[in-house]
Amino acid sequence: MKVVSLFSGAGGLDLGFIRAGHNIIWANDNFLDATNTYRRNIGKHIICKDISDIPSCEIPDHDILVGGFPCQGFSVANAKRNEHDERNKLYLELLRVLIDKQPKFFLAENVKGILNFLNGKVFELIIDDFKKAGYRVKYKVLNAADYGVPQNRERVIILGVRNDIEYNLEHPEPTHEETPDLFSNRKKWVSIGEALKNIPEPEDYHSLSNHTCSRFKLKFNGYLGNRAIDPTRPAPTVTARGDEKGGVVVLHHPNNHRRMSARELALTQSFPIDFIFEGTNSSVYRQIGNAVPPLLAFAVASIFPKE
Ligand SMILES: C[S@@+](CC[C@H](N)C(=O)[O-])C[C@H]1O[C@@H](n2cnc3c(N)ncnc32)[C@H](O)[C@@H]1O
Repeated sequence: MKVVSLFSGAGGLDLGFIRAGHNIIWANDNFLDATNTYRRNIGKHIICKDISDIPSCEIPDHDILVGGFPCQGFSVANAKRNEHDERNKLYLELLRVLIDKQPKFFLAENVKGILNFLNGKVFELIIDDFKKAGYRVKYKVLNAADYGVPQNRERVIILGVRNDIEYNLEHPEPTHEETPDLFSNRKKWVSIGEALKNIPEPEDYHSLSNHTCSRFKLKFNGYLGNRAIDPTRPAPTVTARGDEKGGVVVLHHPNNHRRMSARELALTQSFPIDFIFEGTNSSVYRQIGNAVPPLLAFAVASIFPKE
């Protein structure tokens, strides 16, 4: 299937689609470092530009439109969220492309908090918009840990099928669960201790990229980024929160002796170990925090027909 990807970032979602056998023919993001990362690891088809400045006629025809539209304005953990936040409107850009290009399918991804933003009114509006655009729409909250990612990360996955297409998309069945019983065909959640157990300390000899780490003294006050990590469980959600001055919030390493390096955070997001990120450490942490875990993306991409 020919796929167009909006808000592609470093390419977590796109990597899952490629591994599931699809062909990304065009992608867009306006974050230069992320597009450099994308170009290096995924392909040269990404355009670095504000999506509002790209007319639909410049976007090639395609079968599947995918996009995790920016979520800061929607996130429940963002105290400053409000309905006038410009970023909430970026979904309208996705809608515009959907209406103009009419692909057979679409996938939109967002934080779980979008469901109760303004008591659910915003989400209702979004679903209604997609239906009016001519699509049958389904949504479900998926936890990345249920697909083998060593992280609890809940995201809403909205799926759309154009009304004239006779194909039923179903969200993927979990492959993992917290405590599978003897008769379950699912595997146990992957713990963060397990996922990082063979990664050397940043100052030891290694040939890993993006594996440096500052030695900030750790705090354990229960706030995001200052919590002890349980090595026997999936990590808490990796976020891209924080500002340019203070840097982004970075999880503690499961040994709770330092923060994670970008490489470790990328593994927590299920990026392959040879996926190289471009930009400063802070920019790389942000690209990683923004991403759809490639393993979750792969599970979702696998439900689409191949042709
Ligand atoms: C949640 S992230 C998506 C990450 C991506 N799906 C992945 O898996 O790596 C949202 C992205 O939207 C991009 N973005 C924000 N505003 C934009 C705009 N006006 N035009 C294009 N991209 C924009 C951000 O730079 C960010 O990379």
